[in-house]
Amino acid sequence: MSVQVRVSRVTAQDVRRRKSGEPIVSLTAYTAPMAALVDEVADFILVGDSLGMVVYGLDSTVPVTLDMMILHGQAVMRATRKALIVVDMPFGSYEESREQALRNAMRILKETGCGAVKLEGGLRMAETVRFLVERGVPVMGHVGLTPQAVNTLGGFKAQGRERAEWPAILADAEAISEAGAFSLVVEAVAEPLAAEITKRVAIPTIGIGASAACDGQILVLDDMLGLTGRVPKFVKSYGSLAGQVREAVSAYAEEVKARRFPGPEHVYAVKGE
Ligand code: KIV
Repeated sequence: MSVQVRVSRVTAQDVRRRKSGEPIVSLTAYTAPMAALVDEVADFILVGDSLGMVVYGLDSTVPVTLDMMILHGQAVMRATRKALIVVDMPFGSYEESREQALRNAMRILKETGCGAVKLEGGLRMAETVRFLVERGVPVMGHVGLTPQAVNTLGGFKAQGRERAEWPAILADAEAISEAGAFSLVVEAVAEPLAAEITKRVAIPTIGIGASAACDGQILVLDDMLGLTGRVPKFVKSYGSLAGQVREAVSAYAEEVKARRFPGPEHVYAVKGE
């Protein structure tokens, strides 16, 4: 008799219920091996469009396509069992109309099997968020620094450093929460503003460069592991894997140059000799 042990995944509703509760742990992952490691600890894993910069060496997330997001979403889904998987909607895949957003969000859900999508923007996207949620698409919002708007923001700049900017950012956060999003990424905003957003919205806030005042935190995995070159100022280092990769690659190169077989010596030995 076979016994099936089914581990149920965290759902968007589980995350929603964590408002003001145990802090929510999340990280990005784009590939199967990394996702499998992160799955052991994360409540949700974001297949972020930051993959454009981290994996593909692009200058921004603007050129990232829906097909890229779907391929990486599929890889992360295959390697994980427990965490909620959230896939970013890339620039150009949702802003044109509510219908375009729904069509592409449904492609992401159907083709990856993930549990939710994330999109950037506040007030201007609230109607779209409501349209998606009412039709069965769990949506995570993203306000503050919204990297897809790099060309209109004039760079990756912290938001809300001036108190005069606060009302607009607060209005963005409240609009996305009221539209039915299950949680909200708050990126690169001053601590008192993050605290005020967290107090005002009914859904969990997930901070990135937005202090510990949020209901949970997210970091780009490769940044916190020390694998990427240009790391934002707010990222604390939890490792320096680039150094270890360099050492391993150099050790391998030395073996090759010394004409030593780069593996256990016996592997290709003829049997009995
Ligand atoms: O794309 C991404 O990795 C993100 C995080 C920075 C929140 O949106």
